[in-house]
Amino acid sequence: MTLQEKIGQLSVLADSIRPFAFDVNPDSFQWGPQRTRELIQAGEVGALFNGVGAAEGRELQRIAVEESRLGIPLLLGADVIHGMRTVFPIPLGEAASFEPELAERTARAAAIEATREGLHWTFAPVVDIARDQRWGRVAETTGEDTFLACAFARARVRGFQGPDLTADDSLLATPKHFAAYGAVAAGLDYNTVDLAPQTLFDVHLPPFKAAIDAGALTVMSSFNDINGVPATANRELLTGILREQWGFEGFVVSDYTSDFELIEHGFAADEKHAAQLSLDAGLDMSMQSGVYMDHLQALVEEGKVATATLDTAVRRILSVKARMGLFDNPYRSLTAPPPGPAPYLDAHDALARDAARRSVVMLKNDGETLPLRKSGQRIALIGPFARDRENLAGCWNIFGDSSREIDLETGLRAALADPASLQVVDGCGMEEAIDGGIEAALAAARGADAVLLAVGEPTRYTGEAQSRTQIVLPAAQQALAEAVIGAGTPVIVLLRNGRALALSPALQAAPAILVTWFLGTQTGHAVADLVFGDHSPSGRLPISFPHDSGQQPYYYNHTSSGRPYQPGTGLEAFRTRWRETANTALYPFGHGLGYTRFEYGAVELSAAGLEWDGRLQVRARIANVGQRPGEEVVQLYLRDRVASRVRPIREFKGFQKIALAPGESRVVEFVLTRADLEFRGVDNRLVAEPGWFDLWVAPSADAGEPVAFELLAFERPAFERPA
Ligand code: IFM
Repeated sequence: MTLQEKIGQLSVLADSIRPFAFDVNPDSFQWGPQRTRELIQAGEVGALFNGVGAAEGRELQRIAVEESRLGIPLLLGADVIHGMRTVFPIPLGEAASFEPELAERTARAAAIEATREGLHWTFAPVVDIARDQRWGRVAETTGEDTFLACAFARARVRGFQGPDLTADDSLLATPKHFAAYGAVAAGLDYNTVDLAPQTLFDVHLPPFKAAIDAGALTVMSSFNDINGVPATANRELLTGILREQWGFEGFVVSDYTSDFELIEHGFAADEKHAAQLSLDAGLDMSMQSGVYMDHLQALVEEGKVATATLDTAVRRILSVKARMGLFDNPYRSLTAPPPGPAPYLDAHDALARDAARRSVVMLKNDGETLPLRKSGQRIALIGPFARDRENLAGCWNIFGDSSREIDLETGLRAALADPASLQVVDGCGMEEAIDGGIEAALAAARGADAVLLAVGEPTRYTGEAQSRTQIVLPAAQQALAEAVIGAGTPVIVLLRNGRALALSPALQAAPAILVTWFLGTQTGHAVADLVFGDHSPSGRLPISFPHDSGQQPYYYNHTSSGRPYQPGTGLEAFRTRWRETANTALYPFGHGLGYTRFEYGAVELSAAGLEWDGRLQVRARIANVGQRPGEEVVQLYLRDRVASRVRPIREFKGFQKIALAPGESRVVEFVLTRADLEFRGVDNRLVAEPGWFDLWVAPSADAGEPVAFELLAFERPAFERPA
């Protein structure tokens, strides 16, 4: 390979030739269609992203394979985050299902659709941990917990890639954004990350490791700096951890121009310096900035970048292309689909409906307000999301087929015996009041037996560069909600949201609240399934809902101060507390209700102590004591009572989602080993420390009674079990 051919493999450019994901003029890209074609012909570009189309992709691949000197195939990538044409719930919503196997199925469906349209590679899953709800990209994550994120990371990689990377429908996965992007200070996108190494290792890195262990072969570096070193030129991350510690064999791609942005960070003097720092740190592929294309040749010729470093990056990219079978079959995924609707559409719609209803979390349901009857009731659907079709899919949906989307009104009417029993009123716009809107809403509410109040965040409040200081409803919607909830008719709040929201007292007072996220293509049908009781809500919160925006970052697995606030015990003054609000969650991580009730029996342990190399069985009987079938997410939490570093007040360590008929019960079993008790010690090495732990089998992060067990050391006998 010539130097230019090698450098070419290290760049991924916006696909300005095929129809692009966003509505942009192709000429506005740094490399318009003509130049991109020339670069492909010259073998000087390795990959393109965010264009679509199998037939057009085939032509691009033909140029690469037949007209370039070496015939190296292109890799064609895109952001297929939560579906392709069929849109599934935002990843945060899908995490609320607590069903990684569901995420594996939706990722598989997305891969089938994406590869049919000329794609090989997705920039997903997002495995960032989001502990600050002000950050807009919370919506793309699985929320605040590392254990849950690991489970979904593995599942999504398996789903995207399938069992055989060389198969036509295998979509190469990219866990992103490496690393700690979710920890940006103040939840402000792209901001600095100031993070203790233990938190980096214990909280933010495990989902990346899980995704790589599941077979991911590319990783995207993040925009942020970590403790002063931008991730894209962070040798410790990209080489030390990823390669030397984890043995990662794939390649690292930058985020969009994040290598060029080293200049604005004040880390690189100019573009050439940025290219040098990035490649040296272990960044193999540069996205869209051109700094590798423009400067690597000079850097190598001047001896500032070693040829061996360049060759290593090239080899990694070529080996991923080889492992995908692109050299044997460069036209994989590039056969134009036959005309007419895709054969899987019905199956994917059914999956989207199931995924959507499994993602919804019922926060409260006082007096069994839900489910509603399908006949004999007058229902008012009120709010700016009632018939809106612009905000169903949510952020980072760039290829979704909007013609198939079912809005709330359509879905609800379709379920009703008499569609005319549903009256629909917008009441206000997303952000603006409408003349007479509140009056019309009040009239509808007063004339109804039940109100479905569809309020929340428009899509544009969520996603990249959409950080917020106040995680509340827009003022116009808040005014509508207060008026309608005050009207006296029972109100069911259908919350549309891409993060946890701080609910106002009026919203909190509504008898029923469903968190419906952005549910995608089948929104209306899925919500109807739940509202009318065809399906019992079974989602659980993957993020804590705070009382107030000012609590952020708030997450359930925080450590304890030396002065925890204990209301009602006399321990109130000079304690860790806010003046204005409780320092707890309004609705904790793991919380969610259904249309039945579950009782938890006493937790039984197979022994009072866990031997150093042993296993401890944890069992509890869970019973459905209500009148309807339902699903429960049985959750396991631990606390290390005393350790050489303060440990979280609870840590999520296991879960099982079980379905029980009324009157049915089942023993749920978890198995603990020493590995479940490990953490990064003061020297940043993994340790498990003998001593006493508390354990909960509970329906949420703040429920249940603890049971104690001891991790036994090798050399010494067990301590007395404390009272
Ligand atoms: O994959 C995305 C990333 O998450 C944010 N910046 C742009 C990339 C490519 O579209």
